[in-house]
Amino acid sequence: MLTVKDKKFVTFIEKQALEERIAEVGREISEEYRDKNPLFVVVLNGAFMFAAELMKNVTIGCEITFVRVSSYSKTESTGQLTEVLGLKESIHNRHVIIVEDIVDTGLTMNKLLFQLSTQRPESIQVATMLFKPSALKTPLSVKYCGFEIENRFVVGYGLDYDGYGRNIDSIYVLAE
Ligand code: XMP
Ligand code: MG
Repeated sequence: MLTVKDKKFVTFIEKQALEERIAEVGREISEEYRDKNPLFVVVLNGAFMFAAELMKNVTIGCEITFVRVSSYSKTESTGQLTEVLGLKESIHNRHVIIVEDIVDTGLTMNKLLFQLSTQRPESIQVATMLFKPSALKTPLSVKYCGFEIENRFVVGYGLDYDGYGRNIDSIYVLAE
């Protein structure tokens, strides 16, 4: 049992299972993007820990950059994406992989994909650590996914509850 602010959480995905699966995704991307010099666009803050682990397992030439979007408050998705901040690189004609912590309703990712596609990248795919398929509110193709999970609130490994819990080295789920 773990307490983050006023809520109790229980173990959900252990560090070892998480990192083994992330390593597999890294190897898969390395094979599929060999000679493509992909640009990884990491969505801060949540994806920082997933991205670090993933990139240790990407063994091909690539670039990494970081953006910020904001669409979430407390434990409910508002689905409101304000802006994409911090993208200095041109993604025109690049093979882009968006690195996200979690796809919930998919609204954030959908808007991000739309905004980035206006720059006409050569290709654009999504790599997310966690995916809640039953929460999806918009059609979305998720090429690389660490774990599909049920529609429950999780923290740890970059994911926060009201700003806290991002430093936890495994995934915890809200206790019922
Ligand atoms: P949508 O609904 O747009 O949301 O796909 C994506 C963003 O919402 C956050 N999110 C969560 N954060 N535990 C969290 O700590 C969760 O269970 C959760 N579900 C969604 C997250 O920031 C993600 O980028
Ligand atoms: Mg996020």
